[in-house]
Amino acid sequence: MVQKINTFNNEIIGTVLETIEKINHLKDVDSILDQILYKARRFSSADAGSIFVAEKDRLRFGYVHNDTLFREDQGREALYVDFSVPVDETSIVGYVALNREKIVIDNAYAIPKDRPYTFNSEYDRKSGYKTVSMLTLPLTTLQNDLVGVMQLINARDAQGKIVWFSDEIQEYLPLFSNNAAVAIERGLMYRELILRMVKMAELRDPTETGAHVQRVGAFSAEIFQEWAFKNHVDYKEMRKGRDEIRLAAMLHDVGKIGIPDHILKKPGRLTRDEFEIMKLHTVYGGQLFINDTSSFDKASCDIALYHHEKWDGTGYPGSLPDLTRPEIAAGKPLKGKDIPFYARIVALADVYDALISKRSYKSAWSEERVFDIIESESGKHFEPELVSVFFKILPVIRAIQEKYKG
Ligand code: C2E
Ligand code: SIN
Ligand code: SIN
Ligand code: FE
Ligand code: FE
Repeated sequence: MVQKINTFNNEIIGTVLETIEKINHLKDVDSILDQILYKARRFSSADAGSIFVAEKDRLRFGYVHNDTLFREDQGREALYVDFSVPVDETSIVGYVALNREKIVIDNAYAIPKDRPYTFNSEYDRKSGYKTVSMLTLPLTTLQNDLVGVMQLINARDAQGKIVWFSDEIQEYLPLFSNNAAVAIERGLMYRELILRMVKMAELRDPTETGAHVQRVGAFSAEIFQEWAFKNHVDYKEMRKGRDEIRLAAMLHDVGKIGIPDHILKKPGRLTRDEFEIMKLHTVYGGQLFINDTSSFDKASCDIALYHHEKWDGTGYPGSLPDLTRPEIAAGKPLKGKDIPFYARIVALADVYDALISKRSYKSAWSEERVFDIIESESGKHFEPELVSVFFKILPVIRAIQEKYKG
């Protein structure tokens, strides 16, 4: 018995260390939540789980996994659901957040009446899922700051039968808490930092709002993921790329900082000369990341520079003899696969969002009209394969629009 516990113990410590290692290499908060949930679920054999992120006096839904309802490449729209619950004793997650203590429930539909919280069965009713066992724990830093709440659902035994969360799991899972909390905090700060950079541009250009860039980032990440799935890209590589493109795409227009106000804020159409100046936002943006020291800088540089290139070679800025890349100094716009891959994706995501949204110089267009344009620009403005990927993930695209309405 002692022997068994020791083995278990080493394994756990190994898993915890490995998780911290991995989490430290991730940057975007969505990937961090995904990774924490994946590890915690694998460790506890939980069928489903979700993480809520703490805001002032509420918990905002942050991420969800459900092996029964979502297959690997399906149900991703559930990730973009947006709701929050108050931090109080009426809900299970609220209670856990308020009291900073875990709650273990063996049957969600048989919670003793003397408990202050009740199980909210609305999700089960809507989805047809059946929640039975639950383990809900606070994610706190060493200073005991609450960062979020993790809820694991339906532990399974080796045969896949739903069972209670065992004593070992109850004892060891909280070991994840501090490190998970710190990783989430870091991810939130990273995204905050990028949004702050975007805000600098936004102060000047009312069309590039935080909501617009979050949408373009999320559209790009989802298009990339679907493309990677279709092309059998290795999971780790996919996740790294998805992280990179999400954050870098949010910075696609930071170069607008360099555009004079009378052009940037013009309520009507631009003249030809004004548009020539406007085009320079790609170059200004690229220059911010020209160091190329990390693959994130490279991704950001490629996207800022080339997000207005077109598949058929009629976009801009084309060549940049004054920048540090002699290979692209030939004086022509880039074409087809010469355009960096991330930039081809962001081109589609950015134009889709510009058309479907209201801008200072245009109204919001109907979905039908926008889809017609995207379709007819396949092979002209956009890479055909990416257009077909885009149309395959419309439920996710719509869920992103709903989440980041701004
Ligand atoms: P943006 O508003 O983010 O638009 C991104 C891209 O979406 C545009 O790149 C264009 O490819 C597409 N797009 C936006 N609106 C329309 C539209 O009404 N019709 C069509 N067919 N496509 C549209 P583009 O043209 O290179 O413009 C880059 C940026 O220049 C725009 O970013 C916007 O900030 C500014 N801009 C472009 N045209 C005007 C304009 O007439 N007035 C003002 N004030 N700004 C403009
Ligand atoms: C997953 O398949 O959801 C995650 C795989 C991994 O973290 O290695
Ligand atoms: C592709 O071949 O479509 C993606 C790879 C790349 O162009 O970088
Ligand atoms: Fe742009
Ligand atoms: Fe944009």
